[in-house]
Amino acid sequence: MNDLPAADAPNPTKRRKVSLIAGGIATVLIPINFGVWMMTELSIPFMVLAALQLVLGIWAMVTALIHVFKDQPSSGAKVGMVLWSIFACLVGLGGPAGLFLAVIAEGLAGMGGAWGRPLRIEGRVVHPSLREGADWTEGDRPDASGLDLPTRRALEALWLHDAQKEHASVPAFSRISWMLSAVGAPPELLMGAHHAAMQEIDHAKRCFALAAGYGGRHHTVEAMPDLLLTGLELRGDPFATLATESLEDGCLLEDFNADVAGRCAAGCEDPATRDVLQRITVEEREHAEFSWDLLAWAIERAPEKVVPAIEKTLAGLDRVPRPTAASAQKRALVDAADRAQLRAHGRIPDDEWAAMWSSRLVATRERVERLLHGEPVMDRCAE
Ligand SMILES: [Fe+2]
Ligand SMILES: [Fe+2]
Repeated sequence: MNDLPAADAPNPTKRRKVSLIAGGIATVLIPINFGVWMMTELSIPFMVLAALQLVLGIWAMVTALIHVFKDQPSSGAKVGMVLWSIFACLVGLGGPAGLFLAVIAEGLAGMGGAWGRPLRIEGRVVHPSLREGADWTEGDRPDASGLDLPTRRALEALWLHDAQKEHASVPAFSRISWMLSAVGAPPELLMGAHHAAMQEIDHAKRCFALAAGYGGRHHTVEAMPDLLLTGLELRGDPFATLATESLEDGCLLEDFNADVAGRCAAGCEDPATRDVLQRITVEEREHAEFSWDLLAWAIERAPEKVVPAIEKTLAGLDRVPRPTAASAQKRALVDAADRAQLRAHGRIPDDEWAAMWSSRLVATRERVERLLHGEPVMDRCAE
């Protein structure tokens, strides 16, 4: 007679239940995490959920295997649990695999264009995530009354993306100011960096206002705690770093920003949106000119370090990823929108971005070569 109390008796189904629950939750996390990625891109919630998916999936696999070897289930149940453990393992590994694919998607498959200077941390372009709130919303709203819902959703998403990138441009210029101070740059360059940062704040607020007008709801930025830990990353010569980053992120990308914004403004029929695009056109061009000035100063100040670095960057300029009309996450929203309405509200298709990018690459290369040869450096591509 077994005199163990029922509660203390070995329970062969307990580990099986734990495995099924852990694996089930890990499986449910897959669509949830995909939705989080669609809404927030490479955000901390996305990374936390990916890690949770990994832990739960592996836990489910280990528990299933312990159940098979220790609890002696029937041979049919044993086969079922072995198959389940393989499935749970794959679900768990899907967490880091999704994270890896998200990084690839963000880095290579098109990050989406924007109107500000990119903020780079450890080589990765970053921007703040979004949350509900209106403290960064300031500026005129567009008239969205004649737009269908898919077009409004697409325009909201595109302007939010721009707002995030504009916001990230503020610390990007703060970083330049810090580096310029470190190498004893003249006051004109420091003033240029701070002036640009102030304009990027204004751009961000106006982009949030346009997004609110199209979407009928307010968004603001999450904190960016990564900036407390890193960001400067001066590993090589500071003059060469300033010069090469200015060439790619300022001379090339901000001049391209101005090209695209100018083209978008020309076809924009909404007064509020057109005004923002026109401001951005003028001011992004100023930011590009600031980078050209910085580049010229760095060449003059430390030619032995800067010229070889610039020549190397110039040789790889064609490999700079082209900004796209919409990021990988926003492409489905844009595809569902009315193309004519998008243009009337200042959004042009990606093939027009591609044509302008080719022209901008040629113009940038020619201007750098003239700069290196001490010739006049007027931009022949600016509209
Ligand atoms: Fe800018
Ligand atoms: Fe900007």
